[in-house]
Amino acid sequence: MCGIVGYIGNNAVADVLLDGLKSLEYRGYDSSGIALNDNAGFDVFKAGGKLNNLFDVIRNDAQKIKNPTSGIGHIRWATHGKATIDNAHPHLSNDGKLVLVHNGIIENYKELKAELEQEGFVFHSQTDTETAVHVIDREYKKCGSLEEAVRRGVQKLSGAFAFCIMHKDEADKIIAVRKNAPLIIGLSKNENYIASDIPAVIGKVKKIIYLNDGELAVVTRNSVVVSDLAGNILEKKAENIGFNPEIISKHGYKHFMLKEINEQPDIVRKVLARHVKDVFSPVDADGVNLNIDWNKVENISIIACGTSLHAAMVAKYIWEDWLGIPVNVEAASEYIYRKNTTGKGSLVIGISQSGETADTITAVKQAKEKGAKILIVTNREDSSIVRYADSVLPLEAGIEISVAATKSYTAQLLAMYWVGLYAVEQRNSLSAKNLADLKQGLLELPAKMEEVLSNAEKIKQVAENLNKYKSLIYIARGANQASALEGALKLKEISYINANGYAAGELKHGPIALLDENMPVVAVLAPGITYAKMLSNCEEVKARNAKLIAVTSVKDKAAESLFEYILPVPETEEHLSPLLLNIPMQLLAYYMADSLGREVDQPRNLAKSVTVE
Ligand code: G6P
Repeated sequence: MCGIVGYIGNNAVADVLLDGLKSLEYRGYDSSGIALNDNAGFDVFKAGGKLNNLFDVIRNDAQKIKNPTSGIGHIRWATHGKATIDNAHPHLSNDGKLVLVHNGIIENYKELKAELEQEGFVFHSQTDTETAVHVIDREYKKCGSLEEAVRRGVQKLSGAFAFCIMHKDEADKIIAVRKNAPLIIGLSKNENYIASDIPAVIGKVKKIIYLNDGELAVVTRNSVVVSDLAGNILEKKAENIGFNPEIISKHGYKHFMLKEINEQPDIVRKVLARHVKDVFSPVDADGVNLNIDWNKVENISIIACGTSLHAAMVAKYIWEDWLGIPVNVEAASEYIYRKNTTGKGSLVIGISQSGETADTITAVKQAKEKGAKILIVTNREDSSIVRYADSVLPLEAGIEISVAATKSYTAQLLAMYWVGLYAVEQRNSLSAKNLADLKQGLLELPAKMEEVLSNAEKIKQVAENLNKYKSLIYIARGANQASALEGALKLKEISYINANGYAAGELKHGPIALLDENMPVVAVLAPGITYAKMLSNCEEVKARNAKLIAVTSVKDKAAESLFEYILPVPETEEHLSPLLLNIPMQLLAYYMADSLGREVDQPRNLAKSVTVE
């Protein structure tokens, strides 16, 4: 949710900043801007809409770029104020000498703005950010030191922030400071980088420093000095960057989403090789600190948002069956605002691909304060949410660039499956045969996923026949209820076609009124206790003239005539079926969106990490 970058060094500053912003596009794309410092003052370039527009602005105004030695940049996901040029960052102080970019939200901006306006500061935008510029500028005018002004200024702000700040009269430095929003410093010889996230510095630096909340860095070309807000110098360890530049390439795929969908079998293979080696060996936590006494856990709450919430729903279904422990699943944004019974005997699991989702972080923090044990399931072990973890379960899916989550969802499901089986072994809650069958089922998954992916061309054809509809319904039962929700979410977020997922049994309580020949229904059919009832629901749909699309792992000749299209997946055990049945729906959504010419990797209004509540 907004990405910021900073650079000081000998390379072409504008190019470095634009390159950094390009790799942070997943954080927002409502507007963008950079400020270049050429020692005589700042040149600010801004553009509305996608980052490409900023490239155009800079190309057209290339003659205006003098010889900058440092700069800062921003890519925006609008919160306060529309996506206009005036609201685009960087924002300047009234005298034009101080400039900053911001990721986060200044919650007390209204009070501050009123106070600052009374004092004569003039606002040029509707953003909360501009208050921060004036607050820090006011301090600068009192103390004459940028570092001190930032230290004093940010203590007047409440909410979340990561800032990069420059001042014309101290042109040799950029100040970086954070609270509740991520920020890293990339270290290199005679140059240094600042960024919201690692992709912006991959391939450019080998070492990074993670700033923590309440830390401020003075970044010059040859030094990085980190201190706390009281001014005490801190010893920070530079860490090796753990990612390979390869991960931010599309590898010939048209979109990152398609690449990431296709990575799924290998991710599953890699995770299983560590944790579920064969049918007879116990599940191996292999370096994951599952510091939990599963026999003492009285109740479990799983908290998440978006796609991660769907993974939580599957986990509830599976774990209650396997472990016999009550599992509550809740959207983090709801958990935060109600009295709940989380306490000392509770295990609270936060699932977050990015580890930066503000709602999930706040919920987990609350649960920790109530004495719950916290397990964090995340794709980013370096993220903010792990601060609250007793145990961290890394997804190992690799960086996911497409805004719509695909491979991380599969990795979340898989994580919940193997940890579920690990807990089963501690609690002895399933028979040896049952356990062995489940492990066998997991081990067969990568090859079965490859089989589904090899069917992509057929799914594409189905997608091209469905893209004319304005609305679709997805239905399923049991563990796959979440698959219906996730299938529908994927479609609506990237194609903008209205799609709603329902527990199939709920269809008759309202949504059935929507059915006619213009409302296709995607039915997710898994084997087991839900299958017969799902078929009855499909009959009900057919009787209302709606087209039916089956996504199924059941080979049932007798039922085939019900369906206009069948997207088959290989046969699989009921509980494991969400891992396979989801993939055709990812492809369906992808091809429908692509055939409509949508910007698949960057759907409108969305951002990959939502760092506001
Ligand atoms: C955003 C993303 C979704 C994601 C959700 C939760 O809305 O667009 O794809 O599922 O946030 O993100 P998290 O990083 O916490 O899993």
